[in-house]
Amino acid sequence: MASASSPPPKKQEKKDLGWMEWFKGWYDLIFEACFQKIMSRHLHNPLPLPPLDGKTCIVTGSTSGIGLEMARQLEESGAHVIMAVRNPIAANELIQKWQNRRTDSAPLNIDVMELDLLSLESVTRFSELWNSSGKPLNVLINNAGIFSIGEPQKFSRDGYERHMQVNHLAPALLSLLLLPSLKRGAPSRIINVNSVMHAIGFVDTSDMNFTSGNRKLTSLKAYSSSKLAQLMFCRKVCLLMLLLKDREAQFLQLLILKSWKPKSEEWPVCAYISYKCRPMNPSKEAHNVNTSHIVWEKTLDMVGLPSNIVEMSLQWKRFDNGLLSVDEMMLFYLDLDLKYYVTISVEAA
Ligand SMILES: NC(=O)c1ccc[n+]([C@@H]2O[C@H](COP(=O)([O-])OP(=O)(O)OC[C@H]3O[C@@H](n4cnc5c(N)ncnc54)[C@H](OP(=O)(O)O)[C@@H]3O)[C@@H](O)[C@H]2O)c1
Repeated sequence: MASASSPPPKKQEKKDLGWMEWFKGWYDLIFEACFQKIMSRHLHNPLPLPPLDGKTCIVTGSTSGIGLEMARQLEESGAHVIMAVRNPIAANELIQKWQNRRTDSAPLNIDVMELDLLSLESVTRFSELWNSSGKPLNVLINNAGIFSIGEPQKFSRDGYERHMQVNHLAPALLSLLLLPSLKRGAPSRIINVNSVMHAIGFVDTSDMNFTSGNRKLTSLKAYSSSKLAQLMFCRKVCLLMLLLKDREAQFLQLLILKSWKPKSEEWPVCAYISYKCRPMNPSKEAHNVNTSHIVWEKTLDMVGLPSNIVEMSLQWKRFDNGLLSVDEMMLFYLDLDLKYYVTISVEAA
């Protein structure tokens, strides 16, 4: 029997999704795959963007797919776009192509910078280069991602499972390292391109890198877990930003992580945006406060950052404008059949 002085029994660590969560996750996934187009038919295609003159946007993975379209449309709307890519030659060829299609001869307002998310060193180099330029950054879009269906487990040079590194660890490092520039560009945004597949993901915090051999790794598990890890990490960043504001944030912590049910007219600081272009709740597991906290700590440890990185980067004492409205900037994604986003709004004191 435990004595009065012995520590309280440890809460049983969750080993996997419960069957109800698993069922709900698959239901959401299949529902979205079948009905996404019908459910979003009321939206304009493409969704109009507001004028973005004077705004600077970094888009990772913009040589193909969703990122490519985002870069093109952002530039067309007046933004200065930085294509953060691992293949600069391909990016420059694309720019040339877009330039040739232009009816006027004005040069496109797009630059290319090399960024390989499979190398944390590359992420650090990219961030240092950008931060040292002293330029403000208004929007960071963490779009680049991999889903290597059917491929065997592979690790990056940093020693991390590739889905986890490209989809979560490297974007997390990039976002945190770029905070000083985002602060300069405030009000600014971090937009993470996530996926409904997070709903069938599970982050085993004792084995985030899938090396224990306890769980058989499939690309589906690796992808969905990396997307869930990104959501959990992101929520923790949002929380930290709110906590910096003042004590009211203690209340907001509950509001956001446990029972946050956004009203349609109220776009909160950290929103999970559905294919209907409305904020919605991510999966139940994404609201797991304990796991989110561990994911945050382990992520920082894996990418080599201190636990007070947000406070250090922003040198914040208080956070002035608590809730921000998310503008229409991200709405055009629907044009591309894209599903979900997580946004963090960064507002400097
Ligand atoms: N497509 C969908 O149905 C769907 C649904 C939900 C969410 N998403 C998410 O949306 C995002 C974009 O998906 P997509 O379908 O547009 O993918 P995609 O066409 O395969 O494009 C992925 C982009 O990421 C880049 N990338 C891959 N590994 C990289 C690395 N190590 N470093 C830097 N860049 C790297 C690729 O560069 P290279 O061209 O050099 O390979 C490419 O530009 C992903 O985060 C994905 O998880 C997609």
